[in-house]
Amino acid sequence: VVEKERGGNPLPLLLGVMGDPIIQSKSPAMHMAALEAAGIEGSYVPLHVKEERLQQAVQGIRALGFRGVNVTVPHKVEIIKYLDEIDEGARAIGAVNTILNDGGVLKGYNTDGIGYIRSLKEEAAPDLTGKRVLVLGSGGAARGIVYALLQEAPARVIVANRTAEKARDLAREWSHLGHLQGCGMEEAGNLLPEVDILINTTSVGMYPHPGHMPLDAAGLPSGIVVSDLIYNPLRTELLIQAERKGCTVHNGIGMFVYQGSYAFEYWTGMPAPVEAMRAAVLSSLA
Ligand code: ATR
Repeated sequence: VVEKERGGNPLPLLLGVMGDPIIQSKSPAMHMAALEAAGIEGSYVPLHVKEERLQQAVQGIRALGFRGVNVTVPHKVEIIKYLDEIDEGARAIGAVNTILNDGGVLKGYNTDGIGYIRSLKEEAAPDLTGKRVLVLGSGGAARGIVYALLQEAPARVIVANRTAEKARDLAREWSHLGHLQGCGMEEAGNLLPEVDILINTTSVGMYPHPGHMPLDAAGLPSGIVVSDLIYNPLRTELLIQAERKGCTVHNGIGMFVYQGSYAFEYWTGMPAPVEAMRAAVLSSLA
C-alpha cells in the first residue's frame, strides 16, 4: 500500500480525519498508536474542514496523496456526492465515515455500524440471532447500527425516537431487511419487559450533560444487555442505573475502536492492532 514517488522512493502513509470541530477527536491519538504498533511509517492528522470547503478538501485527498481519511460531524452525509464509489452499506445508511484512496479513486465506506456490532458481540452479547432489540434514537448513529444489526438475524428490532415519526419512517424504509418497528419514547418504556438488548444511540447523557437519561430506567428488566454508544463519560447515567438493576452493561469505547480498526484495515491491508488502539483512546480520555 506504500505510495511511491517517481524514482521508487517509498513515502510515509498519509491519513487523517475531516470534521468541524476536529480538535476534540480521539482518532489521531488512536491511529498514531496503531501505525506505531503495526510498524508502519506514516501520519494521521486532524483536518479542520468547514462545510463550504468540503468539495475542495475531497479533491485535496487526491492531490496530496492521502491514502485514507475518516469523516466525522458534520460531513458524513454531504461527502457522499464528492466520492467516486460508495459501498452498498454506506449507501443504504446514507453516511460515510471512511474514505479509501485507491490510486486516485475515492471509495466511501461506513464502519460505524459494523464496528459497533463487533464490539457488542465481543464484549456483551456474543449471539444476536433471535434477540429482541430496542434502539433509542433514529439519527445517523442509529441508522448505521440498525443496518448492521439487521444483518445478524435478530427476532425483532424496535426503533424508538423522541420524534416518533422519524422512527416509523426508518422502520418503513428498511422493512425489507428484517422485522423492524418504529415508535415513540413512551411506548419504548412499555416495551422494556419484552426486550433482550437496549441500545442508546442518542446523545442524552453525553459530556457535558452527564446525569441525563434517555428513558425511565424503572422498567429495566434485570439480566438484559444495556448498551450506550457514548464513551464520554465511560459510564453514563443509563449504564449506572442499568448496572444497579443487574443488567450487563456495554459502553461506546469498543465501537470507536472497531470503526477505526476496520478503517485501518481498508487503508493498510493489515490486521489492526486493536489493543494498542484501545489503550491509546483510554489514555487520551483520562
Ligand atoms: P447522531 O449522528 O449522533 O445520531 P443525529 O443524526 O443528530 O445525531 O440524531 C440525534 C438523535 O438523538 C435523534 O434520534 C434525536 O431525536 P430527534 O429525532 O427527536 O431529534 C436524539 N436526541 C437528541 N437529543 C435528544 C434528547 N434531548 N432527548 C431525546 N432524544 C434526543
